[in-house]
Amino acid sequence: MKRETIHPAKHLTGGLELPGDKSISHRYAMLAALAEGTSEVRHFSAAADCHSTLACMGSLGAEVRIEKDTVRVTGRGTRGLRSSWRALDAGNSGTTMRLLSGILAGQEFTSKLTGDDSLQKRPMKRVIGPLREMGAEIRAREDNFAPLEIRGARLKAIGYQMPIASAQVKSAVLLAGLFADGVTSVAEPAGTRDHTELALEEFGATIEKHGRTIRVHGLGSGKLTPRSLDVPGDLSSAVFFIAAASLFPDSNILIHNVGLNPTRTAILDFFASMGAAVQILGLKSSQGELVGDLAVKGASLKGGVLRGDQIPLLIDELPMLAALGPYTEEGIEIRDAAELRVKESDRIAALAENLRRMGAKVEERPDGLKVEGRRAGRLRGAEIEPRGDHRIAMAFAVAGLAAEGPTVIRDAHCAGVSFPNFYQELNRLAES
Ligand code: S3P
Repeated sequence: MKRETIHPAKHLTGGLELPGDKSISHRYAMLAALAEGTSEVRHFSAAADCHSTLACMGSLGAEVRIEKDTVRVTGRGTRGLRSSWRALDAGNSGTTMRLLSGILAGQEFTSKLTGDDSLQKRPMKRVIGPLREMGAEIRAREDNFAPLEIRGARLKAIGYQMPIASAQVKSAVLLAGLFADGVTSVAEPAGTRDHTELALEEFGATIEKHGRTIRVHGLGSGKLTPRSLDVPGDLSSAVFFIAAASLFPDSNILIHNVGLNPTRTAILDFFASMGAAVQILGLKSSQGELVGDLAVKGASLKGGVLRGDQIPLLIDELPMLAALGPYTEEGIEIRDAAELRVKESDRIAALAENLRRMGAKVEERPDGLKVEGRRAGRLRGAEIEPRGDHRIAMAFAVAGLAAEGPTVIRDAHCAGVSFPNFYQELNRLAES
């Protein structure tokens, strides 16, 4: 297992470009495989997760060509996928498994979907339920876990009231809705990222939004159109560098070309509320998505409480915020975030354990945690156990930069699930 040693830094300086947004890359890859003709997707995510999606779409008959970060996908139309003789492997990627389930539910064949040990422990009932209601036959281990066997069917449109705020569940139902007769609607209990809606529109599907309800029209004999698209840099990856730069008064970094979709920027609002020095430069719109550069300087962070409807809008950024807690004035408190327990790891437990290893004062709760601020003392370098979770590994690598003594991240390569050259980039910008 590869270990990575993080040494205390003085500040971060320089410019960087991030891998393409993971959420958007998944969606473009799937929709391109359903379109009739060749789509070109530039700055496609380097994340292992998105390459799992590409491999699945390839196994389902789309032609996938990868040249550096440009991906060309040739689809044979919404009815053009064919069954794969071997199980589709979503690897570590919940987005691949849940979104693809929506597409497979509408096919005329049976598919098997599997993933790694972590993914096989994550709940799938949340997509199985509505997809069954639409007419698909689905078998799962304990009726909840992968491997899944999905026998597609002619689907009927449903009106689905989501019990949890999840972009993945919303997306699975909307994608299945493409194959249903009539108009499928999904009502969200709280807002979540809207990349599926934007991507569906981009590829030519008909989407309507009324408040928190999204409606998709079944395609019938209609088609999706191949597109030529650019993926913006991933804000969820940028957050590790925003946090790292914020830790040191003399930091000055510029993160180029970052996706700033308003359903993802709650994290920037929270950084602003803590007193972080983050400036958005050159905001522009690109294929329905907003993009800009982020200039970040060091600042004294106040800390704060995250709760309620805020949570689904910055769910992936919570590990970094919690690991920043001990460097803030008032600490960080996270509430209403029980979902964190069913991510790539039980993130609440993983955060509490590793923060304590570094000497932080933490109260673990069923739906979150409270991390004491600066007054509880400076963190010390420790050996971190990320539990195979990319965001835990990266969050503690950042926390290690301002700790006393070196921090060792065990099993550090798991960062590649979303950010393959994370440590190289962190080392390049951090000066010790
Ligand atoms: C994602 C949605 C979120 C997020 C995940 C990516 C997406 O999951 O945590 O990393 O691309 O739709 P949930 O929808 O389960 O909250």
